[in-house]
Amino acid sequence: MKILIIGGGNMGLTFARSFLKAHIVTTEKMLILEKSLKKAEELKKLNIGTVYGEPGPYIKEADLIILAVKPQDTSSLFAVLKPFIDHQQVVLSIMAGVKIQTIADQLGTDKIIRAMPNLPAQIGVGMTVFTSSETVTRIELVTVQNLLNSTGKSIYNEEENMIDAATAISGSGPAYIFYFMQSLIEAAKEMGFTQAESELLTYQTFRGAIDLFNKFDYSCEEWISKVSSKGGTTEAAFVKLNEQNVTKQFKIAIRQALIRAQELSILATN
Ligand SMILES: NC(=O)c1ccc[n+]([C@@H]2O[C@H](COP(=O)([O-])OP(=O)(O)OC[C@H]3O[C@@H](n4cnc5c(N)ncnc54)[C@H](OP(=O)(O)O)[C@@H]3O)[C@@H](O)[C@H]2O)c1
Repeated sequence: MKILIIGGGNMGLTFARSFLKAHIVTTEKMLILEKSLKKAEELKKLNIGTVYGEPGPYIKEADLIILAVKPQDTSSLFAVLKPFIDHQQVVLSIMAGVKIQTIADQLGTDKIIRAMPNLPAQIGVGMTVFTSSETVTRIELVTVQNLLNSTGKSIYNEEENMIDAATAISGSGPAYIFYFMQSLIEAAKEMGFTQAESELLTYQTFRGAIDLFNKFDYSCEEWISKVSSKGGTTEAAFVKLNEQNVTKQFKIAIRQALIRAQELSILATN
């Protein structure tokens, strides 16, 4: 299988590296189209495949075309890409907000998979949600899922609107976690720990909690009650969290991310 990645930025490069590391594809079968001259030169030095600066007939050689440019660059890209697209090729888009129908209309093809990865994909622990148009076969879906899984884990959902929901949960998710970590660091500093100590206390606590969660079969709720004892310190903190309705506020914030993802989807369509 020959793979063409269009856009050799953060995500395009992450994908190329992950596929090669997982031995799903060799450098001979990897094509990269990057319009930035500077980035293209840097990519060439990495020996991750053949790097092109302009679309050309080589595009027809690809079995899978991955669209990894910024959403605002889609119209100009689609215009130059369309003459080289074949109906047998599968197009995988990771561009935020760009709908399957938009890609189908502008590229004149209909085998389209849309995926929403997240930043930890860069180190192989990403979370991707993906969906597809009806003409993508089961075998093509499994092939693409194997590729996506080289960047972490993935789930398929046949409802395209769940891509917006995934954007709000796992796409923006790492930032919510960092926000919470930042709050813990600030609290630790206010109690007298140094910056370095506060960071260590927070990072190691997060790591320990996640490792525990992964190791045993308890829900978050069960873990909370394991840490909390009647009349103890954790319970005292949770009384305050509940008084301030933090869960509700957090859900409101995440719903706002969903609303914004839906708005951006509409903007990218127009
Ligand atoms: N980064 C994330 O965590 C993340 C997560 C989920 C989804 N995504 C999606 O992934 C896509 C890529 O994001 P990114 O962070 O990797 O962006 P990026 O680092 O800006 O990479 C995009 C690259 O594509 C190049 N490009 C633009 N138009 C092109 C064209 N016509 N032909 C070839 N190359 C072209 C850009 O060159 P110039 O710099 O010269 O414009 C740039 O090097 C976006 O649509 C984003 O929504 C990103």
